[in-house]
Amino acid sequence: MTVIVTGGAGFIGSNFIFHMLGKYPDYRIVCLDKLTYAGNLSTLAPVMDEPNFRFVRGDICDREAVFKLFEEEKPDIVVNFAAESHVDRSIEDPGVFLQTNIMGTQVMMDACRKYGIRRYHQVSTDEVYGDLPLDRPDLLFTETTPLHTSSPYSSSKAAADLLVLAYHRTYGLPVSISRCSNNYGPYHFPEKLIPLMIANALNDKPLPVYGQGLNVRDWLYVEDHCKAIDLVIHKGREGEVYNIGGHNEMANIDIVKLICKALGKPESLIAYVADRKGHDMRYAIDPTKIHTELGWLPETKFADGIQKTIAWYLENRTWWETIISGEYQNYYERMYKDR
Ligand code: NAD
Ligand code: TYD
Repeated sequence: MTVIVTGGAGFIGSNFIFHMLGKYPDYRIVCLDKLTYAGNLSTLAPVMDEPNFRFVRGDICDREAVFKLFEEEKPDIVVNFAAESHVDRSIEDPGVFLQTNIMGTQVMMDACRKYGIRRYHQVSTDEVYGDLPLDRPDLLFTETTPLHTSSPYSSSKAAADLLVLAYHRTYGLPVSISRCSNNYGPYHFPEKLIPLMIANALNDKPLPVYGQGLNVRDWLYVEDHCKAIDLVIHKGREGEVYNIGGHNEMANIDIVKLICKALGKPESLIAYVADRKGHDMRYAIDPTKIHTELGWLPETKFADGIQKTIAWYLENRTWWETIISGEYQNYYERMYKDR
């Protein structure tokens, strides 16, 4: 079985590659990644020399390169993680989000059509459903919740999802889609809430909380997401969407306070800053379908997962310090100065 994993030098894709290589030693795993600012080859260093792993630097929008790779590898399964993934960057500059997240998805599926495939899997997000009110804890996103996006990022992901379903209906492409809540864990790029707060707290820098910090996200440990995708690509039904979530809703401010406490840092580091434009209030996933059909349940409790994550950032300072000392500094200045 040959599996092409796009975006495998990023946060979730790299965790997925580790999971797959560990669980299926007889599979061939081919990572296709452009190595944008978010892709980090050092993350894949531990598996680079594995005989059943191949890394290819390339853009999922590059039709010629993608078709050549399919010609060489004849993959059985494609899991498309490659995306521009940060909401704040999509507000700053939407174009590249439409390019990679929509047009790149088209190129990958066209290659699947041409060369034949057992399964094309699209890694999507709960953000395609828009947001839920804080005062209706009874409301959760199900797979039939209408798509109702807020940011250029979530709009590009929703557009891609629609295209994936269209390729299934029109061309009979064997597809599946998973829509997951917010992930956290090792190799999370330090522009996202949890790793940014850990890195800033360790450097005694202000912890920029948007608005009042009351926005709620449903956090899932990244390994649980990887296990869910593994189940969907092997056992999930074609043409179906599966929601993945941890039933672990938390307000941003509570996460930031928890990180302060865990690192022995004062809450006086917290700085309330201007809110994100169009900021989604609350995300919450109903994972009943994947539980009843495929038996998936999250295994890592947040209390354990966040401790493991903090420990990982303490033990792997070089990984994130290298990132924040480079080009990322310019982004940080633009995003947070005078905010
Ligand atoms: P990430 O930003 O950490 O990694 C993205 C990876 O894709 C990087 O390695 C980057 O180099 C690569 N990439 C970007 N553009 C590319 C292109 N044109 N061609 C090839 N490679 C390209 O993202 P992540 O957090 O790991 O998210 C992975 C996927 O999961 C995305 O599709 C995202 O929408 C989805 N998702 C993320 C979360 C989350 O909490 N992070 C939750 C649900 C869904
Ligand atoms: P983020 O990690 O960017 O994920 P998403 O927007 O895709 O859910 O942000 C998580 C939450 O944290 C979101 O409500 C925005 C908020 N946030 C801050 O308050 N401060 C920050 O510096 C960042 C990056 C995010």
